[in-house]
Amino acid sequence: MARLSLESIVEAVNDLPAFPTVVTRVIQLTDDPDSTAQDINNVLNQDQAITARVLRLANSAFYGYTRRINTVTDAVVFMGFKTIRSIVIAASVSDILNKEMAGYALEHGELWRHSQCCAMAARLIARKAKFPALDLAYTAGLLHDIGKVILNNTMKESYIDVVERATQGEIPFNEVETEILGFTHADVGSQVAAKWNLTDQMVEAIAFHHDPDKATINPKLTAIIHLADAICVAMGIGIGVDGMLYPMSANAMELLGMDENTIESVINDLSDLLVDQTTI
Ligand SMILES: [Fe+2]
Ligand SMILES: [Fe+2]
Repeated sequence: MARLSLESIVEAVNDLPAFPTVVTRVIQLTDDPDSTAQDINNVLNQDQAITARVLRLANSAFYGYTRRINTVTDAVVFMGFKTIRSIVIAASVSDILNKEMAGYALEHGELWRHSQCCAMAARLIARKAKFPALDLAYTAGLLHDIGKVILNNTMKESYIDVVERATQGEIPFNEVETEILGFTHADVGSQVAAKWNLTDQMVEAIAFHHDPDKATINPKLTAIIHLADAICVAMGIGIGVDGMLYPMSANAMELLGMDENTIESVINDLSDLLVDQTTI
C-alpha cells in the first residue's frame, strides 16, 4: 500500500476551508461582554443556512426548552452566549463532517452521527463531573474526530484497509493507523484545530482523545472527550469510526469522579436524547 507522507496530509489540512466569516464573527462577539443579542442576530442573518440549523438545534430536545425558539435573538437570550457559540460552530461544521463519503472508508453520515453523539455525551459527562465549561466540552466532542475527514478524503481507498483492520482485527483504531500510516487521525485533527485557531486546550483534547493520560493543559477536558467517545462506540454509534475495541482509561474516570454507575446514567440520558436526535 502506498504510504502517505505526513506532509501531504498537512497540505490537505491547509486546503480545508476556513471557518465561514459569519462563524468567526459570532465567536468574537460571544467573547465580548459588550455585545448584544441583536448584534449576534445581525451577523447570523447574513447566512440563512446556518441560521436555520441554529434554530433547529436550539429547538431540539437536547436543550430542553418547552417554549419554541423562533428567532436568533430569542435563542441568544434564553441560551446565553456560550451555548450559542457552540451551536453556531456545530451548525457550520456539520457540512464538513457530513460530506458525502461514498466509495471511501466511512459511510455517509456515520462520522456526523458519531460526532453529534460524542458532543452530547461530553456535555452530559461535563455536567456530572461539575466541569465548569459545558459548551467547551460539547464543541470538543463534536470536533474530536475531524482528522478523519482529512484522512478519508486524502487517502481514499487505502483508508478502507485501516478501517477494516480496526473493526475486524480487534485492534484499537489509532494503533492500526500508527502501524500503517505512522500517525493517527488524532494527530491530523489537532493540526486542523490549530489551523482553525481553536484554543490550546481544544487542540490538546483532539490530539489525545485516545490517550487522555498524556494531556497537560486541561486533562479534565481531554478525559471527558475520551469517555464520551468510548461511550458512543460502546453504544454502537461510531463502529467503523473508532473501531470495536475501546478501553476506557481508569485515570480519566478517576480524574472526573466517574464510576460504572455514573457512566451508566450518562448512557441512559444519551439514549433518551438520541431517540429524539435532531440532525442539524
Ligand atoms: Fe477518534
Ligand atoms: Fe471518535
